[in-house]
Amino acid sequence: AGNEGMKELVEVINRLQDCFAYTSSSLNLQLPMIAVVGGQSAGKSSVLEAVAGRDFLPRGTGIVTRRPLILQMIPHTEEYVEFLHQPGTKYTDFEAVRKEIQEATDKEAPDKAISSRPINLRLYSPYVLQLTLVDLPGLTKNPVNDQPNNIEQLIRDVILEYIEPENTLILAVTPATEDLANSDALKLARQVDPAGERTIGVLTKLDLMDQGTDAREILENKVIPLRRGYIGVKNRSQADITNAINMKAARDAEDAFFSDNYKNLKDRVGTRVLQRVLNQQLEQHIREKLPGIRSNMIQKKNNLTEQLQILGAFDTKAQSNNALFHQVMVRFANSMKLCLEGFDYNVNIN
Ligand code: GDP
Ligand code: NA
Ligand code: MG
Repeated sequence: AGNEGMKELVEVINRLQDCFAYTSSSLNLQLPMIAVVGGQSAGKSSVLEAVAGRDFLPRGTGIVTRRPLILQMIPHTEEYVEFLHQPGTKYTDFEAVRKEIQEATDKEAPDKAISSRPINLRLYSPYVLQLTLVDLPGLTKNPVNDQPNNIEQLIRDVILEYIEPENTLILAVTPATEDLANSDALKLARQVDPAGERTIGVLTKLDLMDQGTDAREILENKVIPLRRGYIGVKNRSQADITNAINMKAARDAEDAFFSDNYKNLKDRVGTRVLQRVLNQQLEQHIREKLPGIRSNMIQKKNNLTEQLQILGAFDTKAQSNNALFHQVMVRFANSMKLCLEGFDYNVNIN
């Protein structure tokens, strides 16, 4: 499978994701994607930004990510962001992207609430591989301000909604400074993927481990084995962020760190490796899942068409006594048709 095949496959999934964003979340969640999970401050947002090669996620103390963020990365000569809820508006200022994410979060989930309705955005960039990642709220135990006492349960429910579907790959982020056996990420992942079939381990903060210790055994998949193994990374520290160290400098520092450490594990460490591994695993995953999704959706479309027929949505001659209602149904039927044309795309899925 060449790069082109991969691009096409992810494009199909991206189109469907956009289509279903406004229609049905249950359809949306059947699509293959990679969801990032972990405890608060594990380094989830840092990993996502490193993979995207840009920093644009809201940050701060407390629970910053309060809505899932579906980030579609698309290789392109220009670099810009487009939100699904603002079609046609190109953002080249990444500060403005951060602000829009914040505003879209507050709008849907005011007063620091949590919502499972995603924000969908596309990042076009020369520095990315074709990939779709979902940033999720981090597990937290302690409510702040006016947050409800059951905040932990609310967050857990949102995460589970995204990682329960068999078609989701789980990127389980654990800081190397914590005991792997206590990892929030792995505990959650194990709940829905007990055999570790669709979980990819990521170890952050390799640079912060105690002198004389290292994560070699974990990276060699000997401690808590996962079928897809573990990748280690070194992201920007808080001081780096405060000092406005950019992503390019951070990547160079990471490369330097890994040329001094973990020399014989080169294919298991670094953001570049992580990008490539995610890209490959998502491709393989889509190839495996697409036939099943396709037949499932054709079934759904047929049921829907039948229902719309009963309601008279396709009956152009009949004078509906509620013209507006009729119009809405016709539009809905058409958009549904457009969505499913994603599958008429001639993609080789063998
Ligand atoms: P999230 O809450 O899981 O999204 O975590 P963040 O990505 O916001 O990271 C939490 C803090 O850990 C931030 O201050 C990051 O700068 C820091 N951090 C994340 N990854 C690393 C790493 O690999 N090394 C170091 N030194 N700091 C990191
Ligand atoms: Na955070
Ligand atoms: Mg975060």
